[in-house]
Amino acid sequence: MKKLLVGAALIAVVSALAVAQGNDKQDAAKKAFVDVARVLQSPRCMNCHPSGNAPLQTDASTPHKQNISRASIAAGVPCSTCHQEKNSEAVGVDGGPPGGKGWNLPPADMPMVFQGRSVTALCEQLKDPERNGHKTLAQIIEHVEHEPLVMWGWNPGGKRTLPPMSHDKFVEAVKTWVAGDGACP
Ligand code: HEC
Ligand code: HEC
Repeated sequence: MKKLLVGAALIAVVSALAVAQGNDKQDAAKKAFVDVARVLQSPRCMNCHPSGNAPLQTDASTPHKQNISRASIAAGVPCSTCHQEKNSEAVGVDGGPPGGKGWNLPPADMPMVFQGRSVTALCEQLKDPERNGHKTLAQIIEHVEHEPLVMWGWNPGGKRTLPPMSHDKFVEAVKTWVAGDGACP
């Protein structure tokens, strides 16, 4: 009887600890996502993740000049007509279009909108495979760690400002969020 009681008490303590640890990780995840959102909604990222069909430009995130949008792609003018794989300064053209491998907007049927979302809505969207390009949370880490268009944000060319924290800190925040099962603030 005594043994049983001790056993039950131990189980209670261990499961309480596990719950506490789970809560700690989820609390950390919620905090970390606030930082993640600050990057996603900074101009270098948000300008390609607009709520409408046109990409945005500059720190003021104004609609792209030359009437560029998903419609212009459909009309036969891909982004790569002007955007090369490198920033134009890197090939000797000041003030020209920035560049990166695969320069494009997310597709119309999976627009991955970062603009105008609350932090909570953005969090829910980012972990929803039906809205994030069918990605697992592990693939989101992979994407933010290595995708050239994400890396471009920290090497944007011209006088463009950088996202509000280093790429390392950003990746760390995404990993903390994923470690807490993508809990949302
Ligand atoms: C030139 C346009 C462009 C820029 C700039 C850009 N992205 Fe994207 N992004 C895309 C496209 C296109 C996709 C969809 C392709 C894919 O799923 O691989 C995408 C997909 C994503 C995804 C996965 C889908 C999702 O919503 O979960 C994340 C996360 C992401 N981008 C984050 C960023 C971050 C962070 C930055 C800034 C540091 C950034 N992007 C800058 C075009 C861009
Ligand atoms: C006719 C040429 C042309 C086409 C086509 C074009 N762009 Fe641009 N784009 C430019 C130029 C020039 C700039 C530089 C002006 C600036 O600094 O905002 C630019 C800037 C941008 C920026 C601003 C980057 C930033 O963070 O400030 C984004 C985002 C962008 N383009 C996305 C796109 C996307 C996505 C497409 C395809 C749907 C596209 N562009 C098609 C010429 C073009």
